[in-house]
Amino acid sequence: MTTLARRPRRLRTTPAIRRLVAETRVHPAQLLLPVFIADGLSEARPIGSMPGVVQHTLDSVRAEAAAAVAAGIGGIVLFGVPEEDDKDATGSAGYAADGILNRAIAAVRAEVGDDLPIIADTCLDEFTDHGHCGVLDAAGRVDNDATVELYVRQAVSQAQAGAHFVSPSGMMDGQVAAIRAGLDVAGHAEVGILAYAVKYASAFYGPFREAVGSSLVGDRRTYQQDPANRREGRLEAALDELEGADLVMVKPASHYLDVLADVAAWSRVPVAAYQVSGEYAMIAAAAERGWIDRQAALTEAVTSIVRAGADIVLTYAALELAGWVK
Ligand code: PBG
Repeated sequence: MTTLARRPRRLRTTPAIRRLVAETRVHPAQLLLPVFIADGLSEARPIGSMPGVVQHTLDSVRAEAAAAVAAGIGGIVLFGVPEEDDKDATGSAGYAADGILNRAIAAVRAEVGDDLPIIADTCLDEFTDHGHCGVLDAAGRVDNDATVELYVRQAVSQAQAGAHFVSPSGMMDGQVAAIRAGLDVAGHAEVGILAYAVKYASAFYGPFREAVGSSLVGDRRTYQQDPANRREGRLEAALDELEGADLVMVKPASHYLDVLADVAAWSRVPVAAYQVSGEYAMIAAAAERGWIDRQAALTEAVTSIVRAGADIVLTYAALELAGWVK
């Protein structure tokens, strides 16, 4: 019997040949680990909806950062969780020098120095008593420009605490340009901006809201993007690039691979993608029930995100993945 000259299966014959011809490789150096640090905890506390993820103390986050260095991952993203009675209408615990996030930045910086890029979440939602990402006007709407002023203040406080990057995630218009100018004026020209440029109003942030003890009632649809919109992703990414973002991010990742591929094709700065809490939790929960293979599913998901064009991936499984993809 004659065979066709083209036989794609030839390149799938052995693991070593498959490895040779793999078009996408995930490397630990491109993974960022998001971590939560909660105020007033005496020991790390598991997050029920995110199996394997905890709220850290200032001590345990130092150990986690040291583990991140040892694993060779690309960096750490810090989120602060204040005590309930430190929340207020303007999220002031988010920019106080002694707020939990700024203390965590300083603690991690003392631990890792410049060996691990420290990225601070720059947003107010964990710190406001109403749970929105900004301040509200008299009509109860999120006030864009008043919020941006507070982001600038927060970014400068994070730079002072020792962050290598600030990371505005609140989706206010003009936030990147204002933060860039504010950092420069305050003498922090070397501190970079990882912009949550393309961020959708997603149901997949559900477990994160438990992780940070969010007070939000309602939704964020007046500032985060409509999941129906693809073209708008390019606009948001382009604006943030022009405003001075050093890195742009697409979020969530797995259900937005079309948007990610667009941004990756158009962007002139590195592109990150965030495998968010719900993406992680669905795999982790199914794996706990024995319905799915945790290692295989997480590896496939992150490989797909890189295949779609992400240079950098934020994933709660960064430390595990670093071991698996070696
Ligand atoms: C807002 C913020 C959120 C996430 C990261 N930054 C929540 C939101 O926008 O409601 C979600 C991350 C995740 O789900 O893993 N500061």
